[in-house]
Amino acid sequence: MTDPEAGTVELDTSYLETVTVEGRDFQQYSINHRIYFGPVDDDEAERLELQHRVFNRAFDDRLIFPPIHRPRRILDCGYGAGAWAVEVAEQYPNCEVIGVDVSPHMKPDETPENLWLQVSTPLVSLFCQFSGQREMCDIAFVGSRSLNESFLDNGSSFEGGTVDDLNRRFTFSPGSFDLVQSRLVASGIHRTRWPSYIRDIVRVLRRGGWVQMVEIYFNVQSDNGSLTERHALSQWSAKYRASLEDLKDLRVGTRLGSLLTTAGLVDVETKMIQLPLSGWSSDPRLREIGTINQQNVHKLLSAMAIYPFTQRLHMPRSEFEVLVAQARQEANNPSLKAYFPL
Ligand SMILES: C[S@@+](CC[C@H](N)C(=O)[O-])C[C@H]1O[C@@H](n2cnc3c(N)ncnc32)[C@H](O)[C@@H]1O
Repeated sequence: MTDPEAGTVELDTSYLETVTVEGRDFQQYSINHRIYFGPVDDDEAERLELQHRVFNRAFDDRLIFPPIHRPRRILDCGYGAGAWAVEVAEQYPNCEVIGVDVSPHMKPDETPENLWLQVSTPLVSLFCQFSGQREMCDIAFVGSRSLNESFLDNGSSFEGGTVDDLNRRFTFSPGSFDLVQSRLVASGIHRTRWPSYIRDIVRVLRRGGWVQMVEIYFNVQSDNGSLTERHALSQWSAKYRASLEDLKDLRVGTRLGSLLTTAGLVDVETKMIQLPLSGWSSDPRLREIGTINQQNVHKLLSAMAIYPFTQRLHMPRSEFEVLVAQARQEANNPSLKAYFPL
């Protein structure tokens, strides 16, 4: 097995610095460069582990959606606390799994031998396809295969630079991954970056390789008409999107399919599912997912919003606490039947 870290650039210590804001730790580099505004502390790592369990249940324990039987090399863009990457590496011990993240802070202490989690690395390129697409996907799975040479980036240099920040051009060798996963990075990808981000992913894929993308549309919904604009959950959703509107496209989950198709991918398949905020559903499976998700939502409503609301919208801390407390109550209220589109 080759060492995928060969040739990487030594980690700049500025990536390691954190700043504490309203009691949570953030990566100073991400804040300074307006990359990502989520916390990177132990609480957030725990929440991401919990959220991963929610996803596993929602995806019927499938870590990989496309029909890949013996993957040799997989890239995870924005690995977070590493739960997905670790499980994939364990499930496919003969596969090299490489994770890239702008922040190393939530990286697990112990990882399988075939997993490399790095913050400074040369990226690779590939291309994808989708088969069939539906608008308004909650969670979008992007399956892509490399099509033909015309999708490769002609004459581009893949040397120099790093792809620790996914907003920067990937420097992995072209055609080197069987699968690229990108999950919940919308709040860290610049609004205008999406087309070139997907092109970079396509470039590092092997011919016939696949892309898998998952994003939550942070707009709490209910199908029974009981959730109004006056509800705290609706206000939280609107403010969260507004707080990052100038920088990020938090609705991108609804258009991943078209982005992939535009990038030349084929066999594009998108799927929209409901992620219940608590165990309100009469459907046993959805009720179980909602019940597990309740604790994640409780933490998420504060974690994802505390920096954007208090520092970017300048909301007083006391007002933030009231809004989050009301939103949590509503999330637990079975009559509202609230869910995130995924
Ligand atoms: C919400 S977490 C999701 C983590 C993981 N993908 C999962 O599904 O559990 C977002 C992660 O993406 C990373 N991230 C966000 N924007 C990034 C960027 N532009 N470049 C690299 N990593 C980024 C963050 O540091 C964080 O670890």
